[in-house]
Amino acid sequence: MIIEPRMRGFICLTAHPGGAAQNVKQQIEYVKSKGPINGAKKVLVIGASTGFGLSSRITSAFGSDAATIGVFFEKPPVEGKTASPGWYNSAAFEEEAHKAGLYAKSINGDAFSKEVKQQTMDLIKADLGQVDLVIYSLASPVRQHPETGVLHRSVLKPIGGVFSNKTVDFHTGKVSEVTIQPAEGDDIENTVTVMGGEDWAMWMDALKDANLLAPGAVTVAYSYIGPALTEPVYRKGTIGRAKDHLEATAFEITDNLKDIGGKAYVSVNKALVTQASSAIPVIPLYISLLYKIMKEEGVHEGTIEQMQRLYSERLFTGGEVPVDEKGRIRIDDWEMRDDIQEKVAALWEKATTENLSEIGDLEGYRKDFYNLFGFDYKDVDYKADTNEMVGVDSIK
Ligand code: NAI
Ligand code: NA
Repeated sequence: MIIEPRMRGFICLTAHPGGAAQNVKQQIEYVKSKGPINGAKKVLVIGASTGFGLSSRITSAFGSDAATIGVFFEKPPVEGKTASPGWYNSAAFEEEAHKAGLYAKSINGDAFSKEVKQQTMDLIKADLGQVDLVIYSLASPVRQHPETGVLHRSVLKPIGGVFSNKTVDFHTGKVSEVTIQPAEGDDIENTVTVMGGEDWAMWMDALKDANLLAPGAVTVAYSYIGPALTEPVYRKGTIGRAKDHLEATAFEITDNLKDIGGKAYVSVNKALVTQASSAIPVIPLYISLLYKIMKEEGVHEGTIEQMQRLYSERLFTGGEVPVDEKGRIRIDDWEMRDDIQEKVAALWEKATTENLSEIGDLEGYRKDFYNLFGFDYKDVDYKADTNEMVGVDSIK
């Protein structure tokens, strides 16, 4: 079929397998260009198909020759209907990994469920024996609790009062005022249940109890802080409560891994265009201004640059892992630089529909967004008849 982008709101309903392959190949090339990393060799990535998780998997495989098991929740293709982007990314990743002689298998299902945890553990046991690194990179709007069966929905709301600020519709470039009503009822609790640390701890408990963690095993989950500008809707909003919980969970997990000398970290990453972040009001405008400044200053990074730096300059230097006063790894250091934030804040005041394409990097935002779905890659012929029925090697 001819595959074109079909937009509905923040979501693109189609994905291009050729573009996804291009995305994966470019990330692999980047990691290889930076040289080998003396990192973990047997790696489980939970949330491995897009965003930071995909880049983590690629960095492990092509930076450290690691065997990887990836867990994700993606839609396979059906005749005449494309798969979700993470499916095609994973198909391309496995193909490249297998070509390079690397072990790579994937599990497609709900990582919050007991069944998928068990399936993953069976696979580790059968194929790898144990893992020495577990990356936890889920971003989901819902979680069915494995004990109660209750379906929890996360929300992106401020806490304690209405929040109004600027936002942009990045498709049209229209800057407008958005007003978000504060959390009510069980909003905070639900968001913490979905995006907090409970499921991460459940994974680590289950892996440890089954003796599937190697001595000294490390686990890393991803968080975000961001500037004062976005605080009401992010770090001091419902999602921020979930991140507080995730960060606190790292200490619990570390305690629990003491006897095997293991450790849990949270890495605070940079704001980037992913499916998850495009859905948060205010954030796309912030990102488009941030990109402009970071590119001007020569410190812009995408998910692969971030993960390559996390591995090579934080996790696997051979020395101690540098952390902040709250025990967190910081690779948002360049985003949070005073000079960068001052410039972003000044642009924020000025930003209008008329000037945004000039003072902000709206084009870069859009390109990144289309790239997520495999569109807007130079070397892909989007007019060509393309086979949508691409399979992930290891998934029958
Ligand atoms: P993403 O949407 O690109 O990736 C989410 C991954 O989770 C995908 O692999 C998806 O298949 C998987 N997933 C979702 N629900 C699942 C389920 N029920 N079972 C199995 N897999 C499931 O998201 P992104 O942006 O890479 O986020 C990953 C983490 O990084 C999140 O914790 C996010 O808060 C954090 N982060 C994101 C930042 C950003 O700007 N995008 C900045 C800093 C941290
Ligand atoms: Na991810």
